[in-house]
Amino acid sequence: MRTQQHPQRNDPTQGFTVAAVCRLLARAAVAAVHAPSVLNTQPWRWRIEHDTALLFADRDRGLSTIDPDGRLLTLSCGTALHHACVTLAAEGADFTVESLPSNHDPDLMAVVHYDGPAPPSPAAVPLADAIMKRHSDRRSFAARPVPDEALDPLRGAAERCGAHLQVTWSRDLADIAAAAALAADAEFTDPAYRAELAAWIRRPGEARDGVPTDTLSDAGPRKIPLRDFRAIGYPSGLHSDTDVEDQYARYGIVVTDGDGPGDWLTGGVALSAVLLTATVEHLATSTMSDLVEHETARQAVRRTLGGVGYPAIGVRIGIPADGAAPARAPRRLAREVVEVLADPLWDEPALTPPPAVR
Ligand SMILES: Cc1cc2nc3c(=O)[nH]c(=O)nc-3n(C[C@H](O)[C@H](O)[C@H](O)COP(=O)(O)O)c2cc1C
Repeated sequence: MRTQQHPQRNDPTQGFTVAAVCRLLARAAVAAVHAPSVLNTQPWRWRIEHDTALLFADRDRGLSTIDPDGRLLTLSCGTALHHACVTLAAEGADFTVESLPSNHDPDLMAVVHYDGPAPPSPAAVPLADAIMKRHSDRRSFAARPVPDEALDPLRGAAERCGAHLQVTWSRDLADIAAAAALAADAEFTDPAYRAELAAWIRRPGEARDGVPTDTLSDAGPRKIPLRDFRAIGYPSGLHSDTDVEDQYARYGIVVTDGDGPGDWLTGGVALSAVLLTATVEHLATSTMSDLVEHETARQAVRRTLGGVGYPAIGVRIGIPADGAAPARAPRRLAREVVEVLADPLWDEPALTPPPAVR
């Protein structure tokens, strides 16, 4: 994805009608419905206007206790932005992204300008295919090591998005685990945190957002503890009979060069790139933000990584366990998230996302 502050635009709809360009941008926004988000809050809205797609944060879906600064909300918008851009590039569109345009609505996260047709990007096509295949896999991974070189494409994906994926060394795992435990202690003793977490945990089929219990896993002993959703009284819906200690999991931290809202958006873009690239590489992933939610824990992770850059989010990576894939988290309807202006030919069925691939 290219970004520039002052895009030079010329004849953007060449060869296409305005309606066709609107539809192309809307398809990208619809694909972005499947982007991962903190507690599956899906905290974004899209507005398609002629040759432009505007991505807004939906702060009504923010987490005031877990995420008071909107860091994870902005990361989540970044994953949606990347999903949309990958879709556009795979469909054969040239486009420019303005991130956090100044002097605008503070909720405006990005503006995607359509610049004209282009050959489908060979790099984007497999990532776009991976959108419907990716899902969080919180089960223990298969008892097979992930070769170091298998992680290179994931590192490269983060770099191309302007961030870094630091894969933790074994010697650092104890420190990162201590940071996770510290975050868990601080959070689970806070009734407001427990209430907010509980508000976004769902029974299967109950809602089109939130985390359904059948996507959770046994949060038994792990090298780095997973967020313990059961601590609020919901049983796990998944039981893995493979390696319960998850010994073969690798852990990466998406690191950004700065620590402001623009960096958080970049972190989300990079997170999406890492997760989709892992899917292409037949690796399973789950995301871990508890490591960075609590200031002391985040600083501890930063020190462990050598104090260079700012930890944005953690990713657990491994070879998927045999057996049925984990249940899928639901998504909001496209028409709840995507608004299309200035397309008299727009028809509602086009907003229906394609069926999920399991
Ligand atoms: C910013 C962010 C933070 C997340 N934090 C966690 C986390 O701490 N623990 C976890 O199990 N999943 C976490 N997730 C994964 C989401 O819960 C998941 O994406 C969402 O439930 C949708 O499910 P899916 O990834 O299977 O599509 C996070 C995702 C994002 C984008």
